[in-house]
Amino acid sequence: MHQHLDTFTTAFTTANIRWYEPIQTELTAVETRLRTLSFDHHDLLTIATDHLFSAGGIRIRPAISLLTSGIFNADYDHTVSLAAGVEMLHTATLVHDDLVDGSLLRRGLPTLNADWSPETTVLVGDYLFARAASLVAETENVKIMNQFTNTLMVILNGEISQQFSRWQINRQEYFERIYAKTAALFVLATRAAALLGNAEKTHLQVLVEFGRSIGVAFQIIDDILDFTGTAEQIGKPIGSDLRQGLFTLPVILYSEAHPNDPDLRKLLVAKDGDHHAVSRLISSVRKSDAIEVSLCEARSLIAQGQSSLEKIPYSTYVESLSALAESVVERKL
Ligand code: IPE
Ligand code: IPE
Ligand code: MG
Ligand code: MG
Repeated sequence: MHQHLDTFTTAFTTANIRWYEPIQTELTAVETRLRTLSFDHHDLLTIATDHLFSAGGIRIRPAISLLTSGIFNADYDHTVSLAAGVEMLHTATLVHDDLVDGSLLRRGLPTLNADWSPETTVLVGDYLFARAASLVAETENVKIMNQFTNTLMVILNGEISQQFSRWQINRQEYFERIYAKTAALFVLATRAAALLGNAEKTHLQVLVEFGRSIGVAFQIIDDILDFTGTAEQIGKPIGSDLRQGLFTLPVILYSEAHPNDPDLRKLLVAKDGDHHAVSRLISSVRKSDAIEVSLCEARSLIAQGQSSLEKIPYSTYVESLSALAESVVERKL
């Protein structure tokens, strides 16, 4: 648990840690659930889960799910199972994502694909998807299971679309892509938890909207950090989006202000990652105001999410959700 707290304190500025207080017990229970495997299994799966879950991670998705369940006073066991299922699904997508991206570092540690064959990595990822489904099924709620499977399809559709959108600049496609690959899971975290608590329709809608805004903002910040962070800080390689031909918001904004930048033109025409052109473009984007403008976009989404919460009766859970939203833009990781 200490390790867990440390992760939070490094991930978020301490001023924003108050969101964590009402769900401490539940988050500890989630950690236990994440490491509990369902039945007799191969040692490799124990090694993989220990490796993946002891590396930390910010646990923002289960936290959002738990806080939402708290608002509606949902059943404790179901609440914990759902939150663990959401984080397990997130972890499974990361295992496959890192394999697909050829990424060797995650949460400051080697990825599974760094040490194991693609075959083993795919199978472990599959196992984690199944485990996520089994955790969510513990809620015994068919509507929630439906949300889970639909979300998984949206995420995978997003990841597949991304494979075919390299070396293209398209603002609309960017927002669709980040909704699918990231925000959809935040929406699952809020929507499923609200369903668990039998929230009334208007409240459910507010939380769906909140999940969407925070999720999109979260990915924008992640995309900014890919430019401004260091691998040491964020625990994964930086500059990797552009190297892979993925044009995220900072580059999209930069390209609108500097349509004739020679490195940008070169990459868009050649459609491959000329190392020097990519490095120069990364530094041009860093120096431009595209970073600040991207940050403004994320801030405004957070503000939108926070103001939508005002339609829900005040409680410490609502206050914590709002504080958590704030920490998304505060985060330096
Ligand atoms: C990484 O998510 C994938 C994105 C959607 C950006 P996180 O930044 O939440 O990763 P962990 O869980 O803390 O490792
Ligand atoms: C991660 O996407 C989102 C999913 C796993 C669906 P990215 O490839 O953008 O995230 P990082 O940068 O590897 O964390
Ligand atoms: Mg990746
Ligand atoms: Mg990816």
